[in-house]
Amino acid sequence: MAFLSQEKITEIRNSVDIVEIISNYITLTPRGRNYFGVCPFHDDNHPSLSVNREKKIYKCFSCGATGTVFKFIMDYENISFMEAVKKVADIGGMHVDVKTTPKVQIHNKLHDIYDLSLKFYINNINTAAGKEARTYLANRGITDDIIKEFQIGLALNTKDKLAKLLLKKFDEKDIMESGLVNKNAYGYLDLFYERIMFPLYDLDGNVVAYSGRIYNREDNSKYFNTRETSIFKKGELLYNYHRAKDVARQKNQIIIMEGFMDVIRAYTIGVKNVIATMGTAVTKTQALLIKKMAKEIILCFDGDEAGAKATMACADILLNIGVTPKVIRLEDNMDPDEYIKKYGKEFEDRIKNPISVMDFKLSYLKTGKNLSNPTDEAKYINEAIKEINKIDDDILRELTIKKVVQETGITEELILSKVTMKEPAVIKMGNDKPKVKIDKYEKAERNLIYYMLRSPEVIKMYNAKVTYMPTKEYRLLAREIKMFYSENGFINEADLIDYVECDDDLVKTINKVEEANLNDNYSLEEIEDYIRVIKDHNIKNEINRLTKQMQEEVSPTKKALIAQKIIDLKKECNNV
Ligand code: CTP
Ligand code: MN
Repeated sequence: MAFLSQEKITEIRNSVDIVEIISNYITLTPRGRNYFGVCPFHDDNHPSLSVNREKKIYKCFSCGATGTVFKFIMDYENISFMEAVKKVADIGGMHVDVKTTPKVQIHNKLHDIYDLSLKFYINNINTAAGKEARTYLANRGITDDIIKEFQIGLALNTKDKLAKLLLKKFDEKDIMESGLVNKNAYGYLDLFYERIMFPLYDLDGNVVAYSGRIYNREDNSKYFNTRETSIFKKGELLYNYHRAKDVARQKNQIIIMEGFMDVIRAYTIGVKNVIATMGTAVTKTQALLIKKMAKEIILCFDGDEAGAKATMACADILLNIGVTPKVIRLEDNMDPDEYIKKYGKEFEDRIKNPISVMDFKLSYLKTGKNLSNPTDEAKYINEAIKEINKIDDDILRELTIKKVVQETGITEELILSKVTMKEPAVIKMGNDKPKVKIDKYEKAERNLIYYMLRSPEVIKMYNAKVTYMPTKEYRLLAREIKMFYSENGFINEADLIDYVECDDDLVKTINKVEEANLNDNYSLEEIEDYIRVIKDHNIKNEINRLTKQMQEEVSPTKKALIAQKIIDLKKECNNV
């Protein structure tokens, strides 16, 4: 990644008007000193996002999204911090000198290697030797336009043609790192031999890998892929993400398939809000990306048993991050590619009528079971209860329980007795703002940081008197505040947010702290009080640790030493 100095980043941020920039994305209306709009980061139609021109910060009072203009663009456009900084610099008419680090240089090399290989493979498919591959694709309904759009290419029956081409332009070390060429005792070997080449892209649309399909011969593996490299991490990518994201946003709907052939086939009938997981289990990173793409998320995996299993797994990952997907199940074990081949545009009717994730789960659990057989029925009910326990939404949970009651002979009471009620983590208040209960230690940490964010004096007191914050998130934030202050000699929220490069977790903690909404003036006694509570807490933790250690200690002399330490600490605890 590229590095810019903190001053430069601040300068870039100050070169634009946050109200003006955010207005490019959402409608803002002035009210009092702030501007308000509907927050694009959660599902809402109330204007709960406020933008403060002077502070150069926005804040959503409903979902807690907070940040500077960089963070807004990062999250809205799904781009990195540096990309957002560059964007804002462009708008502000500033020149950014982006120094590249060695890591970026190797990335650039790999990108260049892949760009050249792409030209090579695309060229091959258009030659006479590519005729058989073109016929294969045509038979599969892939038109020339689609071949062009998806940059489909071809590896011919040559041994080292790509290797030779690359060696003319690039260092051997970089070529080896790309994974496109192997080396043995006899020389270089292209990785791909006689395969139709489907480029795989990163989130920005750069080609970072290939999947090669056989088309004219028998081979153990239908598809063969390049290995993971520093620019190709399977678990972080989604096939077709860069093409689909805008359409998905417009339609507020994204369809997820398993194979890239399914995606390409969907394009042939004009369905473009579609991405593929490429046959691997969906990771949390991918799930978070999917969550940002659209509100309606439809899983349309292969119609076979493996596809049903994958749907279950993917649904759970999504449910875990608060997304309730819908499901399309294709009959006769068909995958979307085969379905569209058979039914064409009728596939759109399926998109319009997905089933709910719970209906899918219940029917999945029923497959292979005979509900009039008590053993099967009991098994089904127990498995269904497990799924019910995963549901966060009260209404959905209730409806599902009703369904299981109807399908089986079991009473609602019995199911309810087995359903673990989820304790709501937050208590909803009348004004719709969740109030989180916190204990006095956490409160002391939060309030101390609140003032650290406003006053160098408080940072100095913290540095002098507190070794560390007991709670991890506050500890991490306090560390950043300390570092920021020691590097810059001042402190404010907007600069700190940019300093941590809009890191999601840290920004969330900042927001939590800000929600304390304390009086801007503090008294020294108040600060001393917070510090005392925190120190007490740390000492108590230390005493607990030592007590445990003492109990496990066998040597009497060592035991005595530890006991003395505990006594000293107890004294300190009362003195501070
Ligand atoms: N896959 C792979 N290696 C394999 C098989 C599959 O990497 N040997 C990946 C590919 O990314 C593929 C996805 O898993 O897109 C789904 O596999 P599958 O359903 O078998 O592929 P199809 O999309 O049906 O491909 P085709 O129609 O060309 O057979
Ligand atoms: Mn297929």
